[in-house]
Amino acid sequence: MTGAAGFLGSYLCEALVAKGAKVTALDNFTIGSTSNLEPFKNEMQIVNCDITKNEIRSYIEGSQIVFHLAAVANPRSCREDFDLAFKINVEGTKNVLDASRDGLRVIFLSAAAAYGNPSYIPIDEKHPLNGRDPYAISKIMAEYLCTNYYQNCGVPVVIVRNFSTFGPRQTPSYIIPTLITQALQQKRLEIWNPKPTRDFMYIDNTIDALLRIAESEELIGDVINIGSGEEVHIGALTEKISQMFGGLPIVNLNKDVVGSERLVCDNTKLKKVTGWKLIVPFEDGLQRTCSWFKQASLGQ
Ligand SMILES: NC(=O)c1ccc[n+]([C@@H]2O[C@H](COP(=O)([O-])OP(=O)(O)OC[C@H]3O[C@@H](n4cnc5c(N)ncnc54)[C@H](O)[C@@H]3O)[C@@H](O)[C@H]2O)c1
Repeated sequence: MTGAAGFLGSYLCEALVAKGAKVTALDNFTIGSTSNLEPFKNEMQIVNCDITKNEIRSYIEGSQIVFHLAAVANPRSCREDFDLAFKINVEGTKNVLDASRDGLRVIFLSAAAAYGNPSYIPIDEKHPLNGRDPYAISKIMAEYLCTNYYQNCGVPVVIVRNFSTFGPRQTPSYIIPTLITQALQQKRLEIWNPKPTRDFMYIDNTIDALLRIAESEELIGDVINIGSGEEVHIGALTEKISQMFGGLPIVNLNKDVVGSERLVCDNTKLKKVTGWKLIVPFEDGLQRTCSWFKQASLGQ
């Protein structure tokens, strides 16, 4: 797995180890942390490795499946340094695909951001890719590489367009950890704009979907969405977090919307092909996440 020490990667490693899989966890630890892998570190191989370097081949060789998660995954970081985002998200993906030519299955983590501002809701896999910001562009380019390697080199690739996953341990710069951290530290919440919508899904649901996707022969060479199908306004999310902390004040900065205005997943294909269904509903997941961040802040 590339990006194994990150948010999604560390949960996926844990789930694979629990299933008895032999896991090699690759990460360059720029964002991800060894502490994310600590509880199960002795049950897998952990390697400090950069996906833009050729050494990755030796670690991928002999595997059955590559989960390719390593990326500059934060859209803001991609805007700040598009050169780095291009190098890791696009060239890094090419390097992983080059290393995977021997029939090895590659599960590539793309993002709903690739859809841009949608022309219809909910968004199914046939929706055109309209993403305009550097993060979305890098994911679209990487997707084209995946399709090309599947069609021309026989690499069995599955492209996964993930919507917004959240949960304990998520990197602080995303909206849910940001709001929870504000609640804990500043006792008030600050949002750019309440209007955009996102499809937020608790981590356990995403990991279950990824494991099912990896086991499906039918999805090879195909694209699949992961998301809950529930549309949540940023304003409503903020209100819920405020309530979970006893009703904290909310400051609306009324800034322009950055990125897509609405993102809601049509998960019909995921349900139909893999039998996936939601395990942890949004509000339960949010409650668990708030509790985890509260506990973590007490431990500091
Ligand atoms: N979290 C979400 O809601 C979400 C939504 C859509 C898509 N995705 C995609 O899923 C994947 C994982 O996302 P995440 O939220 O866990 O992000 P994350 O930032 O927590 O994890 C990414 C990991 O990649 C590692 N990495 C970065 N550059 C690397 C390099 N050159 N070599 C090796 N490792 C490198 C980082 O250290 C980090 O551990 C990403 O590809 C992301 O674009 C995530």
